Amino acid sequence: MSKTVLITNPTLHPKAKETLEELGFQVIIAQDPAEDSLIRLINDNKVIGMFVRIEKITAKIFDSCPSLKIVVENGIGVDNIDVEAATRNQVMVANLSLGALAVAEHTIAFVMALARDLRFDDMSTRAGQWKSFNQPSFNSVQVSGSSLLIAGTGNIGQQVAKKALGLDMNVYGYDPYVSAEKMEKAGLKKVETLEQGLALADFVSVHMPLTESTRKMFSHSQFDKMKNTAFLINVGRGACVDEDALYHALADKKIAGAALDVFEQEPTPADNPLFQLENIILSAHVAGTHKTLMENQAKLGAESIAEAICQEGRYALNIVNKKQLNL
Ligand SMILES: NC(=O)c1ccc[n+]([C@@H]2O[C@H](COP(=O)([O-])OP(=O)(O)OC[C@H]3O[C@@H](n4cnc5c(N)ncnc54)[C@H](O)[C@@H]3O)[C@@H](O)[C@H]2O)c1
Repeated sequence: MSKTVLITNPTLHPKAKETLEELGFQVIIAQDPAEDSLIRLINDNKVIGMFVRIEKITAKIFDSCPSLKIVVENGIGVDNIDVEAATRNQVMVANLSLGALAVAEHTIAFVMALARDLRFDDMSTRAGQWKSFNQPSFNSVQVSGSSLLIAGTGNIGQQVAKKALGLDMNVYGYDPYVSAEKMEKAGLKKVETLEQGLALADFVSVHMPLTESTRKMFSHSQFDKMKNTAFLINVGRGACVDEDALYHALADKKIAGAALDVFEQEPTPADNPLFQLENIILSAHVAGTHKTLMENQAKLGAESIAEAICQEGRYALNIVNKKQLNL
């Protein structure tokens, strides 16, 4: 049996490689995540397992690489992996959910930074504009008593709710698949339609997975329905928000501001027009991790790949196509 694992992103914490090597695996790290280059690496080295971050693992990869048995995503969302093609080729696809709390904390950091206008304050203080509070551009607002709409009230959405309730926010949930009773238990008030929630929210936070029904769920007509004092936060998936429509909503002041951790294209191009705007805060798809977690997650992912390949004991993994593979 081959014992070669491919890490498809050189920025994955080195603990992943170290752990796999300690467990007797050979590890190769792809420098180029392009489909053909991954196929060549997998077939030349008879790769059995892959540890991926945001790289696209396509149907062509699964259809052309018979040695593959498992693909582990170093995070929660598996929209970059063609799970159907993996299943057709008997390949396990798994994710790691350690980062949920980190995403919730990042969301609250965005809420506070937007509300307190920290980006502007930091820049103006450095520029010697000590009396920034006298200027019309001083835009701080109060978080206590404001309304937060959480779109997608799953694991992360509910953790965000818990923290937002601690800040005395009024928390609403939009999620057609979660009942009003379940939301109420988590302290959320359910809204039946997205439009209803958008109209009342001071902050809207996006936490759905990327699917065909959530792609560009936030576009011109949704921004038109938001208050012009409201903020949009996206820590879910970039393509859930129409970036061009968001640019216009921010530039035309249809909404007050936004904060994004995820982008339609990642890494986002250096000439992304959103970079020109002052009313947006950005981070580079880092919400789901922090210094300690990166290392722990890399270790857990590596141990889980080894365990799944050797089929020893219980998989420490959440295998997303478990049912379809009859495991
Ligand atoms: N930025 C990051 O670093 C980062 C890290 C981890 C996860 N994520 C993203 O966060 C997403 C959510 O993670 P989770 O663990 O909470 O997942 P989850 O499956 O527990 O929750 C997702 C929720 O979205 C709901 N949903 C699905 N379609 C919807 C729709 N059309 N409208 C409204 N709600 C809908 C589901 O019913 C579910 O309750 C992941 O899929 C991933 O894309 C981002």
